[in-house]
Amino acid sequence: MYKAKINYQRASFLTSAPDIKALPADEGIEVAFAGRSNAGKSSALNTLTRQNSLARTSKTPGRTQLINTFGLDAERRLIDLPGYGFAKVPLAVKEKWQKSLAEYLMKRDSLKGLVVLMDIRHPLKDLDQDLISWAVGSDLPVLVLLTKADKLGPGARKKVVLEVREAALAFMGDVTVQAFSSLNKLGLPELEQVLDLWFGVAEQPDSATTN
Ligand code: GTP
Ligand code: MG
Repeated sequence: MYKAKINYQRASFLTSAPDIKALPADEGIEVAFAGRSNAGKSSALNTLTRQNSLARTSKTPGRTQLINTFGLDAERRLIDLPGYGFAKVPLAVKEKWQKSLAEYLMKRDSLKGLVVLMDIRHPLKDLDQDLISWAVGSDLPVLVLLTKADKLGPGARKKVVLEVREAALAFMGDVTVQAFSSLNKLGLPELEQVLDLWFGVAEQPDSATTN
């Protein structure tokens, strides 16, 4: 099993930013977690950092409406982005935070990798595909995390992973796919390996295993 080179447990809260102007200086390396509301972004960050309440999680979709930043060291940060695609939010609120999301993705120079989280039972919705296309077009590597993998048995899980890997080829970019569970830590070493790579402390991993 992969042993992380960065101590992700060391993450500490930096800022909650309503727009990119309020973010820390655009220096060093940032990796962002993006995905639909309720996909499990905040939970995955808590699992990664072994901190139960670093990023706020909620049963109510749309909980994270700000860009939350967490520092690992002086030049490395993790970002919890606002979720997209949740219908039951006032339009004005939705537009405001989707605008800050788009702005962040387009303007942030220190952004070096994008983790796109999707519920393994509902993968590759339109907005997920748009986001991946955009990232590939911007030469940004993408790790698709198929979250809540504990909700499926091993057979069904492997089937979805293989289907999404097949679909990911069509994006013609650096897009890898991994099953993940915050509940039982499935996929955590693989996530750490990809992050170590993007943060510049590890070599390119061998092709991922199907679990
Ligand atoms: P927003 O901030 O609203 O965009 O949501 P989010 O993507 O940050 O999702 P969050 O981590 O808050 O999780 C949403 C719900 O899914 C919560 O009720 C979590 O407990 C649940 N959840 C997250 N990850 C897992 C998982 O791996 N397994 C299971 N069974 N539930 C999970
Ligand atoms: Mg969240």
